[in-house]
Amino acid sequence: MTAPGLTTNQAPFIEEARTHGEVYIRQPYELYSESNQDTWRRLYARILPRWKKYAHPKFMQGVNNLALDPHNVPKLDDVNKFLAPLSGFTAKAVSGYVPAYIFFDCLRTRAFPTTITIRDGKKIDYLPEPDIFHDVAGHVPMHTDKVFADVLVRFGEVAKAAAERAAAMTDEREKVRHIESVIKAMARFFWFTVEFGLMKRGPGSSDLCVYGSGLLSSYGEIEHCLTSSDVQRYPFQLEWVINQYFEIDHYQPLLFIVDGFEHLYDEVHRLEEWIRDGKCDNVSPGEPLVNEADLKSFLNATKATAAVH
Ligand SMILES: [Fe+2]
Repeated sequence: MTAPGLTTNQAPFIEEARTHGEVYIRQPYELYSESNQDTWRRLYARILPRWKKYAHPKFMQGVNNLALDPHNVPKLDDVNKFLAPLSGFTAKAVSGYVPAYIFFDCLRTRAFPTTITIRDGKKIDYLPEPDIFHDVAGHVPMHTDKVFADVLVRFGEVAKAAAERAAAMTDEREKVRHIESVIKAMARFFWFTVEFGLMKRGPGSSDLCVYGSGLLSSYGEIEHCLTSSDVQRYPFQLEWVINQYFEIDHYQPLLFIVDGFEHLYDEVHRLEEWIRDGKCDNVSPGEPLVNEADLKSFLNATKATAAVH
């Protein structure tokens, strides 16, 4: 009998952790099967030339600084030894989906919730949920950059500010409506930047490169997003981004460009101002849908905030 391994949706270790309600877990490295290791090797070898061609230079610098092993699934402890001294960030193993507020609050403390399972080697091209290739090869190299790391922390602070504002609302229905709208705004902002963002190669340059992790972890889309005439690429506009729905099951037809990491930081700051000013209370309906766990995580945060004040 072959080892069960740590394959997406087929890992007894993960199912067990979820049954016990454990969000943060250890990375049981001994459970990765030879097939899991082979999947990592193939994904890495295939995408490396495209990273060199299309990724932001800071991303490639991050890949080198983390000393990611092309031949083996990364050990988070090893990754963190290189990562933490550079930006204070660590990759923290999780059992699966982390509700919105908890996810953002984790970023605020410079920890990145990290999936440890890896996609099935029989279908390496498309995966709706994150895996360790998306999270560690796609996200974590960017976390070595100090400004980008600060952007992630700001997301956590924005979530906290949103919870504080909602805590002051006395009408429960109004509070829920406000939180749902803010979660949508934040999720869309995160999606069109950290997950699927494009950036100018340099000041005044019309040349674009990729810094969004959804693109950086997709062999097909990292090229498609920059070269296809089917993709509309526009300068980042906050009012558009927070009102723009998105779908996760196909290549993105619409992407937004920021000038640089400082620009991105400033826009997250502006998002917080907009939330405080009530400008995110009525964003347009549509994807992403706000699930029960996301809403509950924010409501719990408002209770904690109210208890402190
Ligand atoms: Fe992601």
